[in-house]
Amino acid sequence: MSDRPDRQTILVIGVPGSGKTAEATQITDEMILEDGVDTVYALDTLEQLSVGLEPYIGDLEQQLEILMDDEQRVNSIWRDRGREEGLRARQHDGPLIRTTAEYSEYCELFAAAQKSKKPLLAPPRVIWRCGPLGASYGPAIAEACDQGHTALFMPETRLWYPNFRHEWPINEIPGRPDLTMEHLITMGRAHIRNRHGQRTKIHLVLEAQSFMMLHNYVRNNCEIVICGRLEGGEAFDIVRREFGDGTRELVDRVRKLENHEWIAVRGKMPPVGPYRGGGR
Ligand SMILES: Nc1ncnc2c1ncn2[C@@H]1O[C@H](COP(=O)(O)OP(=O)(O)OP(=O)(O)O)[C@@H](O)[C@H]1O
Ligand SMILES: [Mg+2]
Repeated sequence: MSDRPDRQTILVIGVPGSGKTAEATQITDEMILEDGVDTVYALDTLEQLSVGLEPYIGDLEQQLEILMDDEQRVNSIWRDRGREEGLRARQHDGPLIRTTAEYSEYCELFAAAQKSKKPLLAPPRVIWRCGPLGASYGPAIAEACDQGHTALFMPETRLWYPNFRHEWPINEIPGRPDLTMEHLITMGRAHIRNRHGQRTKIHLVLEAQSFMMLHNYVRNNCEIVICGRLEGGEAFDIVRREFGDGTRELVDRVRKLENHEWIAVRGKMPPVGPYRGGGR
C-alpha cells in the first residue's frame, strides 16, 4: 500500500458553464494512466459521460467492444502523433453501468477480453448511471471502497455534500458499517479497507458551482482546490480569507479567469489531459 502514490483530493469550483465537468473529466483522463488509481468511479447523475454508449445500456459485450476499439485508436494515435493527440482522440469515458451486478459482469467480460489470469478485472474508468438522486449511488460508493485504490469522481458534488449536514442524502455507506460519507472526506488517507481487509486510498475528484453550495468539510479537507470563473463578492471573500497569503494578489488572478481557464488556489495543479469535447 505504502508504495502507492499519495491520496489525491481535488475540488474544482466555477460558475455554471465555466467547464468544470470537462476539466474534471480531463483530470480523470490522466488519473486512469496513474499507478495510484486502479479505477475511476464517475457518479453520472446528469448523464454527461459516455453519451455515445447510451444506445448500448444493458448490452455490456457491445460496450466492451466499442471501448476496446476506442482504446486501440488512442494507443495508435499516441504512437504516431504523440501523447497529447492520442489522449485527445478518446471518444468514450467508460462503460455505462447501472448496478453492482452489471459492474461485476463487466469486470468478468473485461478480464476475459484482456486474457487476465484473474476472473474479474476492473476497467480503468466506470460510469455509474443510477439516476438523478445522490442517494441512489450508495452501492456504487460502497463498491469503490470494497475495491480500494479507486477515485470517486462526483460531478455536482452538492448532491452528496450539500452545505447543511441534515440535507446530506446518505451518510452510512451500504454494507460498510465501518465507513460513512463523512469519513470519505475527512479520513480517506490510508484508512479505508478494501473487501480483503487491506488498507487502501480512495481519491476524490469533486466539483461545484460555488463554495457555498458545499459543506465546509469538503473545501477544508480537499488538498487541491482549482478555481475557474467565479462571480459574487462572497466567492472572492472566501478565496481571500481561506486561500493564498491573505493579500489581494490571488483574488485578482481569479477575477481575470475566463471560461475554461483554471488556477490552483490551494495545492499544485494536477496533470490535466487535453480537452476532447464533453460537458453540456
Ligand atoms: N477546455 C474547453 N475548451 C472548449 N470548450 C470547453 C472547454 N471546457 C468546456 N467547454 C465547453 O463549455 C461548456 C460547458 O462545459 P461544462 O459542462 O464542463 O461546464 P460546467 O462548469 O460543468 O457547467 P455546469 O455548472 O452547468 O455543470 C460545454 O459546452 C463544453 O463543451
Ligand atoms: Mg458540470
